[in-house]
Amino acid sequence: MKIVGGSPSVPMARGIPQIFESLRPGSVSEGFWDYYRLEEENADTNPQERLIRFVSDIRDFLEPTGRALSVGCGFGVQEILLSFLCPDLKIVGVDIKDDKRTEAKIRSMKVIADQVRANRVAPLLADGGLLPFREGSFDYVIAIDSLSHADYMREDRDLEGSQSLLLAEMSRVVRPGGHLVVVDNSSMSPRNVMRKRGTSCHPVNLFYLGMVLKRLGHDDVRIHPYYDLAGRTDLRARVANIVLKRSNALGILIAPLFMLSARKSSESTRQLPR
Ligand SMILES: C[S@@+](CC[C@H](N)C(=O)[O-])C[C@H]1O[C@@H](n2cnc3c(N)ncnc32)[C@H](O)[C@@H]1O
Repeated sequence: MKIVGGSPSVPMARGIPQIFESLRPGSVSEGFWDYYRLEEENADTNPQERLIRFVSDIRDFLEPTGRALSVGCGFGVQEILLSFLCPDLKIVGVDIKDDKRTEAKIRSMKVIADQVRANRVAPLLADGGLLPFREGSFDYVIAIDSLSHADYMREDRDLEGSQSLLLAEMSRVVRPGGHLVVVDNSSMSPRNVMRKRGTSCHPVNLFYLGMVLKRLGHDDVRIHPYYDLAGRTDLRARVANIVLKRSNALGILIAPLFMLSARKSSESTRQLPR
């Protein structure tokens, strides 16, 4: 008699696998749990909820289909969620070796994709400054929170040099008429000026990125302010919602409204259960 065993079932919510609950103990690197540690004020919430909100906003904004590349995907959780939210999208995620010269992030992304059966996601170890793809290979090339960490492995620590190198490569592999997308922390936000000290995050200068993109031949460069306001009814969020509906430029200028809350949440964090 042949016994056919299916793989263990993956907990799902609204058709999306519960990644943090699905992971088998010890299957991903320690750094994964450090990276996704919870802020104290969100301690009772599912850690995936905030990521889904963020990725859903990206999905609603871009409505991506076809082939996408994510440069600096880290552990790839957002890319995996995006693949579940966009049934017509295939995503390659690339990242480099970490500061211990290991491939832990990309290896973990493979494990996670495998465990939650994310079949349209392909993790790859590669330097965003030297992408192993032909010109025009992708409909969308995205960098989420990676340009602000772009000097990660460079000896000279020339941040803007690294950012323009990544943008040049991203620009080379996106197809004509495709979309090159940078989602990142802006140096114009006072909260990031405060956060910057003592971290490896160097918020991006929107005008510098805009200039590099124009030099690379991208005429239609748009800047959109982004705040995670879902479920918030406090005065700050209400003001922000009104302003954002009216003007992008004003939306960028209201960042100081969120300065104190960002400081509070960056001060208190807790570990996720493993
Ligand atoms: C703050 S993490 C963001 C990870 C993920 N995108 C996210 O939003 O959770 C920045 C990532 O950019 C990656 N990175 C920095 N420079 C890179 C490069 N030249 N090529 C590929 N990845 C790079 C780092 O290894 C790191 O995983």
